[in-house]
Amino acid sequence: MSVHNLDIKRVTTHTIQELKNKGEKISALTAYDFSMARAVDTAGVEVILVGDSASNVMAGHETTLPITLDQMIYHAGSVVRGVKRALVVVDLPFGSYQGNSAEALRSAIRIMKESGAHAVKMEGGLEIKESIVRILSAGVPVMGHLGLTPQSIYKFGTYAVRAKEEAEAQKLMDDAHMLQDIGCFGLVLEKIPAALTKKVSQSLTIPTIGIGAGPDADGQILVIHDLLGITNEFKPRFLRQYADLHTVMTEAIARYVDDVKGHDFPNEKEAY
Ligand code: KIV
Repeated sequence: MSVHNLDIKRVTTHTIQELKNKGEKISALTAYDFSMARAVDTAGVEVILVGDSASNVMAGHETTLPITLDQMIYHAGSVVRGVKRALVVVDLPFGSYQGNSAEALRSAIRIMKESGAHAVKMEGGLEIKESIVRILSAGVPVMGHLGLTPQSIYKFGTYAVRAKEEAEAQKLMDDAHMLQDIGCFGLVLEKIPAALTKKVSQSLTIPTIGIGAGPDADGQILVIHDLLGITNEFKPRFLRQYADLHTVMTEAIARYVDDVKGHDFPNEKEAY
């Protein structure tokens, strides 16, 4: 096992830009609570995303749409308290920024003030440009998110790979450049062809972070529950599962149940 770059003091948006500049890949993972954030941070991950995927893996919703701004702030605050080194980025949830730019700014400011996070992430391109510009002008770093954008799942109708056709690929490239030009510090590319990721990543100066987007993004991100096998029903092709914690947890809990029922727990040493 190796732990990388722990000599870096605090990861900032500048740090991840430097990693791209020197050709070093950026590691990113999600986290939603204090204990998991501490493990992810200790292992050397540079960017921790408090993703609205919390709606799925923490709250059991089918989509990311139901999670609220208050709930995101709760998760984000818990993560920030567990992190000493990583850059903490928080998703602006569905409905907190699409309405108008004043509401978007209010939502971003609430996240920064109430959770102590370092940046926000927003899904979409040209359609949300005004909101992103307003948030950036308040001094809040913004990460973009293009390709499969789960907050628009009812528009897409499916979680299939995006931007396979030329017109959608061109719009994604245009949006990526627009996001860079207005000042986003990075960009998540989700579930798009590997060749398009390569083209976008090579033509941008800001770092791209891929999920289901092939090897040529400047960094990679996965949902921590998927990587650790805590959720054992979700196994897309792009996922590499590094552990089977669902089995580890259920077996340990089943042993506890056996010990309680068999009058074995607690024993004399475990009592006062
Ligand atoms: O919410 C999330 O976890 C995300 C990642 C999949 C990039 O947006």
